[in-house]
Amino acid sequence: MIDFKEKIAGIIAKTIPDADPEMVRDIVEVPQDQKMGDYAFPCFRLAKIFRKAPQMIAADIAEGIKGDPLFEKVEQVNAYVNMFLSKEQIIRPTLTAALKGDRFGTDTSGEGRTIVIDFSSPNIAKPFHIGHIRSTVIGNSIYKIYSALGYNVVRTNHLGDYGTQFGKMICAYRHWGNDDDVNRDPIRTLLSYYTRFHEEAEKDPSLDEEARKTFYDLEHGGEDELRLWQWFTDVSLKEFNRVYDLLDIDFDAYDGESMYSDMMQQHIDALRDKGLLIESQGANVVMLDQFDLPPALITKSDGTTLYCTRDIATAVYRKEHYDFYKNIYVVASQQNLYFKQLWKVLELMGFEWAEDCVHVPFGMVSLEEGTMSTRKGRVVFLEDVLLQAIEKTKIIIAEKNPDADQDMIDSVARDVGVGAVVFNELSNNRIKDYVFKWDQVLNFDGETGPYVQYTHARCSSVLRKAGEETVRAAESVDDLDLKYLTSDSAYTLIKLINAYPQVIHDAADRYEPSIVTRHIIDVAQAYNKFYHDEHILTDNEDEKNAKIALTIAARNTVRNGLALLGVKAPERM
Ligand code: ARG
Repeated sequence: MIDFKEKIAGIIAKTIPDADPEMVRDIVEVPQDQKMGDYAFPCFRLAKIFRKAPQMIAADIAEGIKGDPLFEKVEQVNAYVNMFLSKEQIIRPTLTAALKGDRFGTDTSGEGRTIVIDFSSPNIAKPFHIGHIRSTVIGNSIYKIYSALGYNVVRTNHLGDYGTQFGKMICAYRHWGNDDDVNRDPIRTLLSYYTRFHEEAEKDPSLDEEARKTFYDLEHGGEDELRLWQWFTDVSLKEFNRVYDLLDIDFDAYDGESMYSDMMQQHIDALRDKGLLIESQGANVVMLDQFDLPPALITKSDGTTLYCTRDIATAVYRKEHYDFYKNIYVVASQQNLYFKQLWKVLELMGFEWAEDCVHVPFGMVSLEEGTMSTRKGRVVFLEDVLLQAIEKTKIIIAEKNPDADQDMIDSVARDVGVGAVVFNELSNNRIKDYVFKWDQVLNFDGETGPYVQYTHARCSSVLRKAGEETVRAAESVDDLDLKYLTSDSAYTLIKLINAYPQVIHDAADRYEPSIVTRHIIDVAQAYNKFYHDEHILTDNEDEKNAKIALTIAARNTVRNGLALLGVKAPERM
């Protein structure tokens, strides 16, 4: 792909030899309004440096670059140089790149670097609820985005399979448990025990003591505790995997918190040797007040460890095991403070790579009734949301395609129903809190996943109608007559396609899949406008070939963009 900014900066730099080329590149911008050109160069910064009126500098630059074949038109407007690229210069390279199929938008900039990404990470014996969808789909998309840029990305699921809550769960099971119920509907049943535990413990605080002792036994190899813990883990994982299958999400490792329980002691010792571990009310903490942070709790008074202790061992393990370039945690913004403490403790322990650890936070999901609460049993299960979306889609597809066979309906309904939920999740800036509303998730109009998927199916249908021979002719980009793609609607679409590879980089830099989502909505809208404004399958062969080339380019962009979000692109809908 041609880097136009770089090219333009080079041309401008020749007219102002005294200016720093780096800075010139920095100043080149894309104006909001297309009337101001494809690129613009504001001269305020140069005016300060050269002590000259910005309008005069702009006029000189405009004069100096006018003859370059890259431009169709160059204008000086006040302090700005507005540049209109010659359309040919954009169209041909854009089509050449976009016709590379799956490879369009990918590059090798991350080759040789490993990124570890910790995402989803639900808690055993707790519901996999709509709150978890955020970490799961944001993490999966970040994995796909970095993979597209050539990084080696390791997906790890840091299952919450350890900690005092297991003491509570085991106690609750011992008091009120029933094996048949657990086997039949594990998580709802275990959740009901857990909820009951909290209710009863309010009346009878000795239960809390019993739970603490039970977790202590679990951590110290108690046979029956281990057996129950293993059982709860197995049945929970079975449920989680059903959701991962629906979403088509895989992990390279399911290294839950328990895996690190054997590795913790050496780090606790290291903290003590470094004089960082302070005794406070029987517990051991690392004081962080000089960094304006609350103390990090490392061991409790009874010697049992905490979430943080296991995370220290986890980070060290990941460095030793994967030698990561970046170690990313996709976890709710409620843990912002926690991660600051964790990085600080790692830094104090002398690990320079602490600065390569990144917390990617996201906002909270609440229900219309209020915040979700596992303890109170107020949750919406992710699996229910996905299954309902699929059911609703089946009805819509059957209505639209009265003669479609059931297999087609089932498979498309799955892609579109699940896609709608995932796409909706990735539409907004991840940090925003939002209220979960059934009708919004199941809304297929407007800027939604089904709309973008539908655009993809529309492109596919145009290509089927055009026939293989025309598609093949369209693929020889060098032979195309590009004048047929210079209308406003065609050119707007081409510029959006041209911007797609950079969009992936921006999304990676900011760990923000919604940048991809927004962009492919724009591409889909631009294609639909082009489709309505113009006659694509005309009798004029040259015109048809050019427009089919643009249709392939649009389809590839939409399809590849959806793939980065973890959303499928069916050929027909
Ligand atoms: N299980 C945790 C939760 O549900 C998230 C774990 C995130 N990863 C980590 N290494 N701390 O809140």
